[in-house]
Amino acid sequence: MPRAGGLFVSLEGIDGSGKSTQARRLAEWLRARGRDPVLTREPGGAPGAEEIRRLLVEGDPDRWSPETEILLFTAARRDHLERTIRPALAQGRDVITDRFADSTRVYQGATRGDLRGLVDDIHARVIGIEPDLTLILDMEPEVALTRGLARRSGEDRFEEFGLPFQEKLRDGFRALAAEAPGRCVLIDASQDADSIAGAVATAVAARLG
Ligand code: TYD
Repeated sequence: MPRAGGLFVSLEGIDGSGKSTQARRLAEWLRARGRDPVLTREPGGAPGAEEIRRLLVEGDPDRWSPETEILLFTAARRDHLERTIRPALAQGRDVITDRFADSTRVYQGATRGDLRGLVDDIHARVIGIEPDLTLILDMEPEVALTRGLARRSGEDRFEEFGLPFQEKLRDGFRALAAEAPGRCVLIDASQDADSIAGAVATAVAARLG
């Protein structure tokens, strides 16, 4: 559903798949084309949502149940949508977000029991918007996990669930790409960063027309 104003793009993928780097490069690519993108992230992307982020990414892996997580991620997303995403799109600016609702569909909806129905219901009631384009960076969890934990950011709560969890996540993201082929583009993130950036630019250029 293309909007009149800016393009709404999300980047998704397992931990350590290089989304943040590619989100930054995409913002540069758009700026070089005279556009004025807003680069943002989830959980977070607005002051209140960043406070909720800390509750989610720090601490013990078993700190929250999947159901509680769905509510916290959605609370953060609603704030992000109200304060950052909608105002930017309304001004005609592009929005690039490092993660959006697909992360909840996969991390909370498909890894620790089947909670996809709950995720979809809550999404429909309080978020109700999808990106115009979702770039799913796909790669081997083993390689991605090494990169991710090597960073040791203090935000490793999900990475500490371990390799089988990351494998489930990868399958979940690939299934989503197959479920929504009009919105999602699967990108091979095992390539070098320049090749990935090229694939990202090609997908975005096709949407800009
Ligand atoms: P992020 O900052 O993207 O971490 P990374 O750079 O390691 O990929 O996201 C923080 C963590 O939150 C990440 O492990 C994924 C998780 N997450 C969910 O579980 N559900 C969600 O809805 C979102 C947005 C993130």
